[in-house]
Amino acid sequence: MKSPRKILSLAAIILILVLIQLAPAERTNPPVEKEITVPGNVMGILRKACYDCHSNRTNWPWYSSIAPASWLLVSDVKEGREELNFTTWNRYSTKKLAALPKKIWEEVQEGEMPPLPYRLMHPEARLSDEEKELLRVWSTAP
Ligand code: HEC
Repeated sequence: MKSPRKILSLAAIILILVLIQLAPAERTNPPVEKEITVPGNVMGILRKACYDCHSNRTNWPWYSSIAPASWLLVSDVKEGREELNFTTWNRYSTKKLAALPKKIWEEVQEGEMPPLPYRLMHPEARLSDEEKELLRVWSTAP
């Protein structure tokens, strides 16, 4: 038999989980303004490994509508879009546009991007050596 106290704390946890659903995080996909133009094979990599956080074409997974995961994912995507957004390319200065490919390659080379938790949840975002090589060549092209 479970003790009444255990049952009570379980009920409290369930109640909290239900109540936090009342504070939903807003999952948005604002309009695409101007999209980065890159060769198709590079685009394929960006789309599968970066677009969920760095574009207005986020594929929101089912668990992104359940708090507390929703809060974390929505704030991650917000921050990611603020740092770099492949679908608002029109907003960047020529200088910034010239510097971005190198920056992108650095993040991938150092294993910083895509972030580890994302790679764990999305096997297709774990880039192979060939895919990384494609990014490197693209980023260093004159
Ligand atoms: C799970 C969400 C997520 C994914 C997927 C993701 N990023 Fe990021 N990225 C972020 C966040 C959040 C930041 C800002 C905070 C930071 O730098 O860690 C960021 C920052 C960056 C920056 C700016 C770093 C700086 O210090 O200025 C670059 C460049 C970048 N990401 C490139 C990429 C590339 C390229 C991919 C795909 C190969 C990718 N990211 C995938 C969330 C993500």
